[in-house]
Parts: sequence; C-alpha cells; structure tokens
Amino acid sequence: MLKHSKKYQLLSRNTFGIEAVAENFVEFSNEEELLAFLDGGFDDKLLVIGGGSNLLFVNDFHGTVFHSAIKGVELVSEDNESVLLRVGSGVNWDELVEYTVSQGWGGLENLSAIPGEVGASAVQNVGAYGREAGELITKVETIAIADASKHIFLHDDCDFSYRHSIFKAAEKGKHIITYVTYRLSKQPQFKLAYGNLNEKVEELGGATLANVRKAVCMIRNAKLPAPSEIGSAGSFFMNPVVPAPVADALKQRYPSMPSYPTASGDVKLSAGWLIEQCGWKQSPHEHVGVYQHQALVVINRGGATGRDVLDFAAAVVKSVKEKFGVELCMEVNVIA
Ligand code: EPU
Repeated sequence: MLKHSKKYQLLSRNTFGIEAVAENFVEFSNEEELLAFLDGGFDDKLLVIGGGSNLLFVNDFHGTVFHSAIKGVELVSEDNESVLLRVGSGVNWDELVEYTVSQGWGGLENLSAIPGEVGASAVQNVGAYGREAGELITKVETIAIADASKHIFLHDDCDFSYRHSIFKAAEKGKHIITYVTYRLSKQPQFKLAYGNLNEKVEELGGATLANVRKAVCMIRNAKLPAPSEIGSAGSFFMNPVVPAPVADALKQRYPSMPSYPTASGDVKLSAGWLIEQCGWKQSPHEHVGVYQHQALVVINRGGATGRDVLDFAAAVVKSVKEKFGVELCMEVNVIA
C-alpha cells in the first residue's frame, strides 16, 4: 500500500545523520501505486531518494520526497554464458550483490558492501575496485513524473561515465526509476587489478566470487566508516581528472602523489590523498571532519547540520585549490 506522510523526519533516511523534515514523504511498493498517485498531475518540488547514502540535506525539504519500496529479483532469461536479472529499484544493493554471488553469477562482486539501493546504482553509476554498475546495466525502467508515462532507457541511452548518468544530467528530476536490469556472467571475469585487491583475494585462497566479495568487504571495512556508527555519505568529493601535463607537473613536485591514467589520456588524481596532504585529518572542528582512514569521506562527528558540512567542504575545496591548483567537485547530492 502507498504510504503518504506529512512533516516526515528524514534523519533515519540519510546516512549523514542530518535532521531535516520533508513536507511530504511518499513510499510506493509497486508501479501501479505510483502511477495512481501521479495520475492527477504532480507539480510539487520533488526529490527521489534511495538509501540516502549520497545526500546532504542543508534545509528542510519543502516538497515531496519519493522512496521506492519495489522489491524482487526476477530471472528474466539465461543462456550458457549469462543471466538477465530485473530488479526492483527498492532492493537493498548489498543484498542483491550477496544473492548474485551466492548464485555464482559474476559482475557485482567488486561492488560489495556499498550502501544504498538498486535505483541509485543507475543514477549514480556506483563504482568501486575497477568496476562500475553501468557496465552491467542493460535496461532502466522509469515512470516520468510530468505525465505518469512509462519509459525504458537501454544501456546506451543512459550515458554512463564515472559517477554519472543521464539521470544526473538531461533527465535529472524527471523520472522515478522502478526497475533496473543487469546482465551477469556465469563465467566470471575477475577484475582484481585495483590496489591490493588481488593480494587479499590470494590470501583468502584465490579468485572465486565469494573470496572477491569477502576481500572487498574487508578492504572497505578498514577504510570506510560504517553508516550505522559514523554519519557520512561515503566519498564526499569525486576524484578530479586533469590533463596529463597538469598531472606531470604535480608529480614533479609531489613524487608520491597517486595518479591513474584514464582512457581519454587525462589523469585521475586521488582526492583523498590531496585532502590528507592539506592536513585535514588533524582538523579540530567539533561537529565535522574527515575520516581518519580515508580523507575523502567527510564525517558527522555528531550534531552537525547540513550547513556545517557544507562550510567545512568549502574550506577543504579552497585548501586543495590553493596547494595543488586542483578544483574538487562534490560527489554528494546537496539538497538545499
Ligand atoms: N589516499 C590517501 N589518503 C587518504 C585516502 C586515500 O593517501 O586519506 C590514497 C590511497 O592511499 C590510494 C589512493 O588515495 O593511493 C586512492 O584511495 P582509495 O583506494 O581509498 O580510493 P579512492 O579513489 O579514494 C574511490 C571511490 C570509492 C571506492 C574506491 C575503491 C570515488 C569518489 N571514490 O575512492 O567510492 O570505494 O575508489 O574503488 O571515486 C564512494 O563513492 O562512496 C566510495 C567509497
């Protein structure tokens, strides 16, 4: 049944642990409920949330917050090589990963232990340890808010790139995602080149889906705060991508700076490293800071408001710009 609450406290709906009140909160558990709700026309300010793991509320939300509770994992088809899975947008991401690994279907194992829900995996093109969800997404089903019409975006329509999709650009704010279809492999192709992933997998006995999942969970647990214990939105900034000559010049000055060439010839730098070099791990701020084991993660030390976090982030951006000449962009979706 559709749930509609007024003056809804969003504290438990965002992993940053920020208090904010939504004028309206609407949760639907199937397409029909959503279609019926949108049918009469909808012209309120709106926000669609998943697990709330990439959001920063700066004010109360004077509009309607939608949340999908569409569940279910449907095996649409399979052949000798692969399976197609159509998954409800409200399915918990890591439960999906765990399930696919237990079935022996490869593709999502590197994306273990990421907070959030299935719908957001398509918006955000979630990525970790050399894998991005968009590589595996074949289809995204949506309902358009303006006229309650159903839409299908095939992989190529989604315009996936690093932490980006069409749902963050031309189609931003126009759709509610209902289902995402993934193609997973029955003959897993392991991607273990990132950092010390291969080493960890070997320690666990070699490359199997279960071992890769276990290794990724271990690496993440060591570097990233558990949302249940420390408020954060994971990586707060994106890793900046700069032209190769800029990266070369920085390397001359800072030989230990991590850098990763991209397919386009530009170079991706590590925002976490840049932030750490600016001394932010020692920041004395009472309510906000960066995580001790990963400076890319801005944390709520307790009682922070969205404004506190935003002011802190601006100071971080300024310091990185001054020291390195590099502009950091926020990965977190700021809801003002
Ligand atoms: N580093 C530091 N100090 C820090 C943090 C990082 O020196 O405080 C260095 C590390 O030693 C390493 C490099 O920076 O040499 C990269 O660090 P890491 O492997 O932790 O990855 P990242 O680039 O900081 C990205 C994603 C993470 C994802 C990891 C693994 C973004 C914005 N973040 O972080 O995604 O888990 O790679 O693939 O691309 C998220 O989006 O919430 C997230 C956690």
